[in-house]
Amino acid sequence: MTEPNPSTIRWGIIGTGSIAKKFATGLQSAPGAELVAVGSRAQATADAFGDAYDIPHRHASYADLASDPDIDVVYVATPHPGHRDATLLCLDHGTAVLCEKAFAMNAREAEEMIASARDKNLFLMEAMWTRFRPAIRTAHELVQSGAIGDPELFTVAVGWGSPFNTSSRLFAKELGGGILLDGGVYPISLASHFLGAPDRITTLAHMAPSDVDDQAGVLFGYQSGAIASIVFSSRVTPHAIATLVGAKGRIEIHEDWHKPEGLTVRLGTGADAEVHDFALTEGNGYQYEAVHVMDCLRAGRSESDIMPLDETLAIMRTMDTIREQWGLTYDADLATA
Ligand SMILES: NC(=O)c1ccc[n+]([C@@H]2O[C@H](COP(=O)([O-])OP(=O)(O)OC[C@H]3O[C@@H](n4cnc5c(N)ncnc54)[C@H](OP(=O)(O)O)[C@@H]3O)[C@@H](O)[C@H]2O)c1
Repeated sequence: MTEPNPSTIRWGIIGTGSIAKKFATGLQSAPGAELVAVGSRAQATADAFGDAYDIPHRHASYADLASDPDIDVVYVATPHPGHRDATLLCLDHGTAVLCEKAFAMNAREAEEMIASARDKNLFLMEAMWTRFRPAIRTAHELVQSGAIGDPELFTVAVGWGSPFNTSSRLFAKELGGGILLDGGVYPISLASHFLGAPDRITTLAHMAPSDVDDQAGVLFGYQSGAIASIVFSSRVTPHAIATLVGAKGRIEIHEDWHKPEGLTVRLGTGADAEVHDFALTEGNGYQYEAVHVMDCLRAGRSESDIMPLDETLAIMRTMDTIREQWGLTYDADLATA
C-alpha cells in the first residue's frame, strides 16, 4: 500500500548557527518538508550551509531570503535580538514564520510581531519544540483528562553548565545573553502549558560578570492555590526532571525533560508506576514542531492551537516581570515602539 503523499511545504532558514543545523536535520524527518533556501549574513556561510543540507537557494542577506518567492515558511534561527527584525521582514514579504525561542527580547517586540502577522493573516508561531514532543503531548492530555486531579505543585529544573565566556551568546548582553531567555523560557513555557499564567511571581537571580543572569529561581503562584517552583542555570547542569503533582497522582517527565523521551505516571499512593516510553525512533525530535507548522499551513490556519500567540505573549510578559525584579534590561527595552 502506498502512503498518501502530503503536499510539499517549502522552507527557508534565516541564520546558519547551531540550532539552524539541528532544525535542518529535523526537517529531513518531516514528511512533505522541502528545505529550499537559506539566508545568512555572508555568502560563504550561506553556501556552506546550502552544501551541507543540499539547499538550492543560498542568499547573502536576510532581506534576500525574505523576498525569495519560492518559500512558504521561514524558520528564524538568529540570536534573540534578531528575532523581531527577521520575523517582520518575512511577514512584510507575505511569508509565514516559525521563530525560535525566546520569541523576542520583550513583550513589546512580541506584540509588534504578533500584530503584524494578524494584520496580514499570516501564520506565526514560537518554536517551542519541547511542546510538540510526544511525551509532552501525552502529559498534557493526561492533565486535561483529570488523571492526576487539579495540578497543585510543579517542580522543574533546567540548565547547561557553561564556562563564562564574554563572546558566547549565553553571556554576551548584546546577543540577548542570560539563562532566562535561553533556558528559563523552557520551564516557564511548560508551567504555562500545564497551569496557565501565574498571578504572583517571586524570583531571585545571580548575575554573571557581563551583567546577565547565570542562575535563578522563580516561584509562581496561581489563583487556584497551585505553586510552580522553577530553577535554571548556566553555572551548573541540574537534574533536569519535571514533576507535576495533583491530588490524584503525579506525572514525572524524565531527564532531559525539555527533550523528553519518557514519562512516569503514579496514581493514588504512587505504588503503581506506569512508565511511558517515547524514545526517538527517527529524526532528532525537531521534526515534530515542523510537522505541526505544516499541518497548520495546509489547513489554512494562521495560528497554532498548541503554541498560541496569546500564550507566547503572556510568557514574554512573565519574563519581563522577572527581569524587572532583577533590574536586568537590554538595549531592546530602551527602544521606543
Ligand atoms: N529550540 C532549541 O532547541 C534551541 C537550541 C539552541 C538555540 N535556540 C535558539 O535559537 C537561536 C539561535 O541560537 P544558536 O545557538 O543557534 O546560536 P548561534 O549558534 O550563535 O547561531 C546564530 C546564527 O544567527 C546568525 N546571526 C545573526 N546575527 C548574529 C550576531 N549578531 N551574532 C551571531 N550570530 C548572528 C548567524 O548566522 P549567519 O552568520 O548565517 O547570519 C549565526 O550562525 C536563539 O534564539 C536560541 O535561543 C533554540
